[in-house]
Amino acid sequence: MELRELRDFYDVIVIGAGAAGMMCAAVAGQRGRSVLLVDHAEKLAEKIRISGGGRCNFTNRKITPDNFLCRNPHFVRSALARYTPQDFIDLVERHGISYHERDHGQLFCDESAQDIIQMLRTECDYGGVEWMMPAEVRAIAAVRTEHGRYRVDSSRGSIDCTSLVIATGGLSIPKIGATPFGYRIAEQFGLPIVAPRPALVPLTLPPETLAELQPLSGASLDVAASCNGARFREAMLITHRGLSGPVILQISSYWQAQAYEKRDLAPVSIDLLPGLDALEWLQQKRGERALLANLLAERLPRRFAHAWCTLHGWDKPVRQMSPTELEAVATALSDWRIAPSGTQGYAKAEVTLGGVDTDALSSKTMEARNCPGLFFIGEVMDVTGHLGGFNFQWAWASGHAAGQFV
Ligand code: FDA
Repeated sequence: MELRELRDFYDVIVIGAGAAGMMCAAVAGQRGRSVLLVDHAEKLAEKIRISGGGRCNFTNRKITPDNFLCRNPHFVRSALARYTPQDFIDLVERHGISYHERDHGQLFCDESAQDIIQMLRTECDYGGVEWMMPAEVRAIAAVRTEHGRYRVDSSRGSIDCTSLVIATGGLSIPKIGATPFGYRIAEQFGLPIVAPRPALVPLTLPPETLAELQPLSGASLDVAASCNGARFREAMLITHRGLSGPVILQISSYWQAQAYEKRDLAPVSIDLLPGLDALEWLQQKRGERALLANLLAERLPRRFAHAWCTLHGWDKPVRQMSPTELEAVATALSDWRIAPSGTQGYAKAEVTLGGVDTDALSSKTMEARNCPGLFFIGEVMDVTGHLGGFNFQWAWASGHAAGQFV
C-alpha cells in the first residue's frame, strides 16, 4: 500500500481494511467524506483471499434474517433489506467479474477471490479513500477538537476524526491478523460484549468416542445434523480428530450456543438417512437374508455401513433381528447421537460467534447508542451468518449501512 503524506484530520477513520471496512470506506468516500482506512496487516484482505477455497463465496441469493445468529434476531433486518445480495451482484457485474452459482444459492467467483479485493480497492479509489497500512493502532481517545471527536494514536502519528468505524473482524485465523482489538475498544467505551467463541468450526470428540469411531474415519456422508432446534442437511466428514464437513460447521454454531448459554454439552443428532423413514424401510426389508450391513450399504457407503454395524454390535442377517432390534437400528439411523467435547478452535474456525452486543448499536446506522460517532461493522459485532456467503453479505450490508451515516 502506497505511503503518502497523511493529514492530521479526516471525517472518517475506518480501522480494519477487510470486507466490511473497505465497503464502508468506499461508500463514505463516494459520499464526499474524507476517509482514512487503517490496517495492521502487510497484505490487504487476507480473509477474502482465502475465502471459499480461493474463489470467495461472496453472497447468497437466498438470504433471510433466519440465516444469522444474533442475541437480538431482529437486528440484522434493516441493513440486510437496504443492501441486498442483488446490490452486491450488481456491483460484481459492473466490475466485469464472472461468477457462478453452487448449491443452496451460493455465489462464487469463477476465477479468484482476488477479483473481489481488487473491486473493493477500486471502489475505495473512486471515493478518494486514503490508506495507512501497515500501521499499528496504539490507542483511541475521545477528544473535543474543532471537528474531531476521536483521536487515533498510531505507529504513524496521531490523527483525529469525526466518525470512527471499528471493522477489525472476529478472532478466527489469528495467523493472518485476527485480533481482539474491536472488543477492547467496545469495552473502553462501555459497550457490552457477548462472549466470543469459535463458530463454523470442526467439532472434536472425547478420546473414547474417537477410539470407537476410528474405523469410520475418512467417511463422507450426506446427512442431516440437528442441535438446539436447528437442522442442516449437507455432507459430514468423520476425521481422525472428530467431525467436520459443511453440515458440522453449520451445526457447530448451534452446539456452541447451547453449550455456552445453557451450560449443557448436549449431543448432536445425526440422521444418516435424511428424507427416509428408517423404521418403515427396515420393516419392509425385515424378511431379507442379507446382513444388516449389506442392506445399509444400499443407502450408505459400504465401508461405513460395515464399520457402523460393528460399532453397534449388529452383525446378524436382517431376518434374524427382532422387531425391538429393528426399532433400535431405526433410531440409531435417524437419531445417531454424538456428544462432542469441544471445537478445533479459532485456528480452524471460519467465524466468531458473539461480539459487540447489538443492543448497544443502532440497527440503521451501526453507531453506538452511547457514543456518537463510534461505529461497529462486520464480524466484530454479535452477528454470525450460516455457511454459504452469509457472513460476507453481513459485512457488505453493515459496511454499507454505516457508510451512509459516518
Ligand atoms: P475481516 O476479518 O474481513 O477484516 C478485519 C480486518 O481488520 C483485517 O484486515 C485485519 O487485518 C484488521 N485488523 C484486525 N485487528 C486489527 C488491529 N488491531 N489493527 C488494525 N487492523 C486490524 N464468509 C463468506 O461469506 N463466504 C466465504 O466463502 C467465507 N470463507 C471463509 C473462509 C475462511 C478460511 C475464513 C476464516 C472465513 C471465511 N468467511 C467466509 C468469513 C468471512 O471471511 C468473514 O466473516 C468476513 O471477512 C468478515 O469481514 P470483516 O470485515 O468483519 O472482517
